[in-house]
Amino acid sequence: MSTFEKKQSALGLQTQLVHEPGVDPEGFNALPHAVHRGSTTFFKNTAEQRKPVDVLGTDYSYGLHGNPTQYTLAKQLAKIEEASHCLLLPSGLTAIAIIGLALLKTGDHWLLPDNAYGPALSLAKQWKTQFNIDFDVYDALSTADLEKKCKPNTRLLWTETPGSITFEVPDLAALCTVARERNIPVCVDNTWSSGLHFKPFSHGADLSIQALTKYQSGHADVIMGSVCSNNTKLFARVEQQNRLLGFGVSPDDCALILRSLHTLNLRHREQARVALEIATWIATQPEVARLLHPAFPSCPGHANWLKDFSGSASLFAFTLSESLSDADAVRFVDALEVFHIGYSWGGPESLALAFEMPANRTLHVGRGPLIRLAIGLEDPQDLSADLENAFKALRAC
Ligand SMILES: Cc1ncc(COP(=O)(O)O)c(C=O)c1O
Repeated sequence: MSTFEKKQSALGLQTQLVHEPGVDPEGFNALPHAVHRGSTTFFKNTAEQRKPVDVLGTDYSYGLHGNPTQYTLAKQLAKIEEASHCLLLPSGLTAIAIIGLALLKTGDHWLLPDNAYGPALSLAKQWKTQFNIDFDVYDALSTADLEKKCKPNTRLLWTETPGSITFEVPDLAALCTVARERNIPVCVDNTWSSGLHFKPFSHGADLSIQALTKYQSGHADVIMGSVCSNNTKLFARVEQQNRLLGFGVSPDDCALILRSLHTLNLRHREQARVALEIATWIATQPEVARLLHPAFPSCPGHANWLKDFSGSASLFAFTLSESLSDADAVRFVDALEVFHIGYSWGGPESLALAFEMPANRTLHVGRGPLIRLAIGLEDPQDLSADLENAFKALRAC
């Protein structure tokens, strides 16, 4: 019996039940790593408790700031994005918000692409009225438009590749050059590629966010986000802001994502392959005006995808002929039986959504009603048959 055990056994049973001795994991080596939970982290003594914390290093001072499970996931995600730092957040949207909160203050200005994820734009609108943080929307495909909209007080350039809903692929290096000349930090929403097929830091970006909710979770059962960076100074501001706000993630959710990362590459590749097959067929349907999939020449910015990406993904859209209406797009989506109707993407179940084309999005993609598809992991022939039936339902009217 160790000295510790001897001391423990002299205590009452209730105390012993609370003060779990634990079993040394040394010698137990298995692929699914332990899930570490815990709010209080014990210090050896007061000197250790009072030691200054390196917020960029491994900080075992309080459960909110990280434990081995969370750090393991952050490390794996940084590896994928070729980053030196990674912060986990409770959702993709929190990852967007924390960057704005860290880098912007009253009187500042930021720029978002016209095809930004809708809630990012809503955040910009809210902060304008609430905090007097101004913003402009630029054409994601035009550096000239971006240059025109940069101001002396612009403190953040937001980019997304490809853009939400309409999938235009920007020339990120060109956008970063415009920003660099003005000392404006650049953040990329890199969720579509999951980080596997696009490396934002090699194109000049400073920060990259992921909605881990999509491919990294991969099973539509976890919501989480991340911020990655190689820019220590900027990342420290984001990390510091997070310390102030106290966003944390569940170790159990981290463990689920760590497990899903084992198959990320395989799932992403297979889902993208089936999406390419389906998209190729969709493009041949007479009602379809334009296929909005970065890997196809009909997608605005396709040349940038060819230049910068090493693969595609399973989320894309298509527009119907302008003679058709949103009601037709709704009829199409409602006729689907294998595809579910729902938000998000990257999970095992295929999803469809009809979108009324926003008035500010017609520049590159026309006015036709838009349908977005997220391809899951079902048998491809079932998905194709389902889509064929939906086109039949469209023709029946
Ligand atoms: C491109 C993009 N970024 C960020 C998000 C936000 O992620 P979350 O749902 O985890 O907040 C989404 C969600 O749909 C998205 O599509």
